[in-house]
Amino acid sequence: MQVLPFVNQKGGCGKTTTAVNLAGALAARGERVLLVDLDPQAHATLGLGCAIEDEPTAAELLLGEVTLDDTVVQGPGGIDLVPSERRLAEFEEASERLLEPERRLQLGLENAERTYDWVLVDCPPRADGVLCANALYACTTAMLIVETGAFALQGALQAQRVLAEVAENQGREFGVRVVGTMFDRRTKFARELLVALHARFGDDMLDTVIRTSVRLREAPALGLPVHVLDPSCRAATDFSALAEELILSLTPRDELTPAAPAKQTKARGTVKSVGQGTARPKTV
Ligand SMILES: Nc1ncnc2c1ncn2[C@@H]1O[C@H](COP(=O)(O)OP(=O)(O)OP(=O)(O)O)[C@@H](O)[C@H]1O
Ligand SMILES: [Mg+2]
Repeated sequence: MQVLPFVNQKGGCGKTTTAVNLAGALAARGERVLLVDLDPQAHATLGLGCAIEDEPTAAELLLGEVTLDDTVVQGPGGIDLVPSERRLAEFEEASERLLEPERRLQLGLENAERTYDWVLVDCPPRADGVLCANALYACTTAMLIVETGAFALQGALQAQRVLAEVAENQGREFGVRVVGTMFDRRTKFARELLVALHARFGDDMLDTVIRTSVRLREAPALGLPVHVLDPSCRAATDFSALAEELILSLTPRDELTPAAPAKQTKARGTVKSVGQGTARPKTV
């Protein structure tokens, strides 16, 4: 089971959009997907039309009051969801009185691998808070989401440093994959930025980039992932490509099915080593 938190301390860079629609693309391929909304803003929950009031949420799961099964609701497109609600913010206060509060999600997911192949965790913008720490403690690979706009490279490098600090504090190592979003190939700036990101992050930068798309803005208002709203739109195509690349990139070669041919094995950095990794300039 892969546990992928979607992180960046920058707000509004596309974390939720990427988490929700990658979940939709993976589910459309028949993968068993759980999306955990770990943001008190509850944008992933609302974007899947699953607003809840009295039912248990991620907050109760982290507090150990309920089991994972108690919290899961069925979202559209075959996505299972652990919903969020504003009271998740209270966990941040309660965590001061808890022993090892950053391990709560990992505990909550203890038996999840019987049911799921992928657990995607939508994180709040604060990458150094206790909610994000929970996601990173449980994670197998952190997904660093980078909007291909102004100051993106500096922001991504800063986020990478925060991830390295968290990993060091937790005494853990985890892989990182970087995904570019809101890409507009008509702008020279965005094309050059993508080349710079590939050069800086090397093999940890995924080849798939998510282009700007009106459908991605419309879909959450309708409570749907783009794979349900319009499976043939370009955003759905981008997320299908991202799902395919991740499956090839993260699945051990001996577990790949014939339908998903093994890709050339690439050396990958961990969060501790990626900063010192060799740059691999690419063209786009
Ligand atoms: N590829 C895209 N094309 C067009 N609009 C996009 C794209 N990705 C995200 N957006 C829009 O950008 C805005 C911010 O996206 P999103 O909510 O996913 O960011 P976020 O990083 O989760 O934000 P926050 O830090 O507040 O959680 C939203 O209005 C979303 O619809
Ligand atoms: Mg968000």
